[in-house]
Amino acid sequence: MNNTQPNNIYPIFDRMLGREDKEALLKQRSVMVWFTGLSGSGKSTIAIALERELHKRGLLCRILDGDNIRSGINNNLGFSAEDRVENIRRIAEVSKLFIDTGVITIAAFISPNNELREMASTIIGKDNFLEIYVNTPIEECERRDVKGLYAKARKGEIKDFTGVSAPFEAPEHPALSLDTSVLSLEESVNKLLELILPKVKV
Ligand code: ADX
Repeated sequence: MNNTQPNNIYPIFDRMLGREDKEALLKQRSVMVWFTGLSGSGKSTIAIALERELHKRGLLCRILDGDNIRSGINNNLGFSAEDRVENIRRIAEVSKLFIDTGVITIAAFISPNNELREMASTIIGKDNFLEIYVNTPIEECERRDVKGLYAKARKGEIKDFTGVSAPFEAPEHPALSLDTSVLSLEESVNKLLELILPKVKV
C-alpha cells in the first residue's frame, strides 16, 4: 500500500467549520468508544445496546462494526497481519471524520494487538479515545460460536483465526473491561454509560 504524500494536494481543514462548531450544534461532545476483544466476545451486541441508550438521551452516535466495514469500504482486505493494519488504519481515519463532526463514535473490531490500537488512538487523538476491552474468555466465545467460525478454524477451514491460529494481545490499560460471561448486557451498558455520559454531556 502506497502511503507517500501526493504532491499538489492542498487540504482546506483550516477553512472548514471545526469540531467545536459541530459539537455546539449537536449540544454534545464527541468521543471515540473503541471496543476490542475476540470474535464472539460481545462487542457488537454491547455497541448496539449502548447506541440505543445514548440515542434515547438525545445523543448522536455512529457504530462502525467489523463485519459491516469488511463488507463495504474494506471488502478488499483479509486477515493477514498487513491487512489487519490497513483495516484498522482506514477505520481510524473514518472514525476521525465522525469525531470531527461531533458524533459519538463506537467501533467494534477485534483489533488484536497494542500496536494496532495505538495506531488508531494516534490517528483519532489520544484524548478522545476510550479503549474498552470485552474480555469474555475464549472458551465462552467458542462455546457460543454464533457464526460457526471457531469450529471452522479448529478444522483448519479458516486460517489466521484470532485466538485459534492468530494472536490476541490483551490491552494493558483499558478504560473499562467487560466480561460478558459474568455481566449481563444491561450491566455492561450501565458501566459504559457511567464512563461516557460525563464526557459527552455539555
Ligand atoms: S480485525 O482483526 O481486523 O480487527 P475485524 O474486527 O475487522 O478484525 O473482523 C472480525 C470479524 O471477521 C470476525 O467477527 C469474524 O466474523 C470475521 N472473520 C473472518 N475470518 C476471520 C479471521 N481469520 N480472524 C478473525 N475474524 C475473522
